[in-house]
Amino acid sequence: MSVAQKTIDPTKLAKLIETEEAEFNARHHGSRDMTERARTSLAGGVASSWQATDPHPIWLADGHGSNVVDVDGNEYVDFHNGYGAVAVGHAHPKIAETISDRIGRGSHFAQPTEDAVVVGEHLRERFGLPLWRYCNSGTEATMEAVRLMRAITGRDVIFKIEGSYHGHGDAVMVSVAPPADSIGDYENPVSVPQTIGLPDAVVELTRVVPFNDLDALERTLHRYQGRVAGMIVEPTMMNAGMIVPEEGYLGGVKELLHGAGALLAFDEVKTGATIAYGGATKRFGVTPDLLCLAKSTGGGLPCGAIGGTEEVMSWIADGRIDQVGTFNGNPLTMAAMRATLTEILTPDVYTEFDRLAEILREGCDAVIERTGIGGYTTVMSARGAVTYRAERVRNYRDYLEVSDELAYINWLVQFNRGVFMAPWGKSENWTLSVQHSEEDVRRYVDNFEFLGKAITA
Ligand SMILES: Cc1ncc(COP(=O)(O)O)c(C=O)c1O
Repeated sequence: MSVAQKTIDPTKLAKLIETEEAEFNARHHGSRDMTERARTSLAGGVASSWQATDPHPIWLADGHGSNVVDVDGNEYVDFHNGYGAVAVGHAHPKIAETISDRIGRGSHFAQPTEDAVVVGEHLRERFGLPLWRYCNSGTEATMEAVRLMRAITGRDVIFKIEGSYHGHGDAVMVSVAPPADSIGDYENPVSVPQTIGLPDAVVELTRVVPFNDLDALERTLHRYQGRVAGMIVEPTMMNAGMIVPEEGYLGGVKELLHGAGALLAFDEVKTGATIAYGGATKRFGVTPDLLCLAKSTGGGLPCGAIGGTEEVMSWIADGRIDQVGTFNGNPLTMAAMRATLTEILTPDVYTEFDRLAEILREGCDAVIERTGIGGYTTVMSARGAVTYRAERVRNYRDYLEVSDELAYINWLVQFNRGVFMAPWGKSENWTLSVQHSEEDVRRYVDNFEFLGKAITA
C-alpha cells in the first residue's frame, strides 16, 4: 500500500473483501453452475480467456437499455458494456429495427452493399482520413495496420507502447501486461511475449517504448535507424486503467516517426466512438497515417475498419497489398454501423456523455479527497476510470504501482450493489452508453462513497 493510502485501515479492508466475496458468491449460484457445466465443452469454461474472472465469471441472460440481467436474475447497471463495444446500449430500438430489416433481406453476400459506401463516407468526414476498408474485429484492424506499415516502408521493425493492448495478433501480443520483474530497465525495455506460442523472431521485431516520453522514442528510433516501419499507438491507453497523453506528445510522436521515415497508426478500437465525436484523432488534433476502429462503431455487432491517407491506402487500392476477408463489409455489420454512427452516436450524444462523466468525476474525486485513499478519476466522455495511485500515472511502469486490492474491492462492492464492471480490475475502465441516465451514474458514485467510508480508519 502506498503512503498516500495510509488512511486505509487494513483490517477493515480485509474484512470487507471477505464479506463482499461471500455475498458475491451467494448471489451467483446459477453462474457458478454454468461455469462448471461449460468446463466440459469450453476450454476453461469460457468463450474467451478474458471472460474468465475471479471469483468466477458471471453469465448474462439479457440486456436492455443501460441494464444487464444475469442467469441468477440479478440486475445491474452495465459499466462493462461488452468491453466498450456497446456505447449504443443494449437492445437499442434503432439497432433492433435495422438488423431485423436487413436480415430479412439477406445477411451475407461477400459482395459490396450500399451501406458500405455510406459508412465509408461517414468515417471519412468523422475521422478526417479519406479512404477506408473493413474487417471484423479490432485485432484484424491492427493486424492490417502492421502489415501496411511494413509493406509501404519495406522495413520489419514495429514500435509499440509498453503496456498497451492492440488485440491478439502475434506482432502486437508483446509487452501487453508484462510482470515487473521481466521488463528490464527503463532505458532498455525488454519485449516480453504476452503468451507462449509467439515465434522469437516475431517478438524481436516488436520493440517497446514508454508512453509519454518523446526523448525515449527518439533514442530508440536512433538505435533502430533505417529499420522501423512504424509505430502503433493507442492515443489514450485504455488497457492500463486510463493513461492520458501529455500535451504535445501525440503530435511529437508523429513528427519523430515521419522524421525517421516511419508511419504512425492510431489504435482507436476503444477510443474511436467513445471519447469524442471523431475519437482521439479529433480530440487531440493529430491525424495519423492509419487509423484502426472496431468495438462501439458497430453497435454491438462484430466489426472493424481501417482508414488511411490517400498515399497509404493507394497500396490497397492498386492491388499491391491484398486486404481481404469473407465477412469484410458484411451487410448486417454495415447496416448496424450506419445506424450507430449516423443516427445514434451523433454529436449531441457526446455532450450528454460529458455531463454524466463530470458527475462521476466530481463524485468519485470528492470521496477520494474526503477519505484520503489516494487516487484520482479520469473521464473522457463515455469512458472513465478511478486510478488507485495518488500521483498521476504517465506510463505502464507507474501503472504497476496502482493498487490491485483497491480495484478489486471496488469491483466487488459495485457488483454487489448493482453495477456491472468489466473483469480484470485495475486494467479496465468503464463505458457509458446513450441509454445510461443520471441515476445510473449516481449509483456508481454512491457505491464508491460506501466503499470509502467502509475502508478508512
Ligand atoms: C485498444 C484495443 N485494440 C484492439 C483490440 C482488439 O479488438 P478485438 O477484441 O475486437 O479483436 C482491443 C480489445 O480490447 C483493444 O482494447
